[in-house]
Amino acid sequence: MTLLLSNTPGDIAKAAQLLQQGELVSFATETVYGLGGNACDDQAVAGIFEAKGRPRFNPLIVHFPDSQAAAQEVVFSQTALKLASAFWPGPLTLVLPRRADSRISLLCSAGLDSLAVRVPAPETARTLLRKAGCPVAAPSANRAGKISPTRAAHVMDELSGRIAAVLDDGACKVGVESTVVSLTGERPALLRPGGLAREEIEKLLGSPLDSPCTENPVSSPGMLKSHYAPQAALRLNATSIKPEEAFLAFGDEHEAKGKAHFNLSPAGDLREAAANLFAALRELDRPGISTIAVAPIPDRGLGQAINDRLQRAAAPRDS
Ligand code: TXA
Ligand code: MG
Repeated sequence: MTLLLSNTPGDIAKAAQLLQQGELVSFATETVYGLGGNACDDQAVAGIFEAKGRPRFNPLIVHFPDSQAAAQEVVFSQTALKLASAFWPGPLTLVLPRRADSRISLLCSAGLDSLAVRVPAPETARTLLRKAGCPVAAPSANRAGKISPTRAAHVMDELSGRIAAVLDDGACKVGVESTVVSLTGERPALLRPGGLAREEIEKLLGSPLDSPCTENPVSSPGMLKSHYAPQAALRLNATSIKPEEAFLAFGDEHEAKGKAHFNLSPAGDLREAAANLFAALRELDRPGISTIAVAPIPDRGLGQAINDRLQRAAAPRDS
């Protein structure tokens, strides 16, 4: 059952409480409806991918009630401060270096060292974020491959039964996703055109934005470098483990094998496995371990996104 909540104080408080409990709540931003979950809760973030049916762990945007709250998780440069004070709250997302002490789930940033952050405009959204008291990860609230929703009814059509609630705050005023600007490279770069015009940003900065490969920013060469790839090689679908290997297990096992060992989910639960994936890779990727053997992961539901990530980590890479 998915609750349809209205934008009254009581219902906003209810939605905030659901987020605190690790449940998923769709809420309106000025751009599109987001599918929100507590960004610090690995299981909630895994649940977002599950509800969307996303075959890939694309990094998610994390939403805050104001820039002070965002500054607890990312490092603001002078340029970032300038953009944030000019355009927040509003349809601009900034990709900034993640703070070393950030509490945000690694799954949320898909293992990257950067984090996409934004402060949405509607009063209801910011009240919700303030009351929830946690950063909220939210992609657009549509099923994978479908168009982004701009009304509560669109979200109900696609996600009813898959999430705890939809907080109805009317139609989204902008109707297209936020503009995504990365400040992690040498120069500010436009990763995704959106609700805030490029020209406005360039006027404020006094210089043109770089445009890396706009179709697929995250896999453009510049971005790929910052993608987390283990130092160790990955051996997928391993059914036997060599003593010098580390073992990334899944499901039932009789004994811990290998030089180091991490079970993504002893119970064989794909959501739990997704929630643990990036932390597990970091944990096993230690000096002295040249290969991580990975147990077969079922290729259904979240297993597809897990396998996609593992295959990319296992692919030959440039040194
Ligand atoms: O308007 C919006 O931005 C909506 C509302 C709900 O806020 N959200 C949204 O999220 O469109 P999503 O997940 O559909 O798109 C996130 C975009 C993708 O293009 C993703 O690649 C980029 O942000 N992104 C997120 N984190 C990133 C990172 N660390 N580095 C580079 N790009 C990132
Ligand atoms: Mg989307």
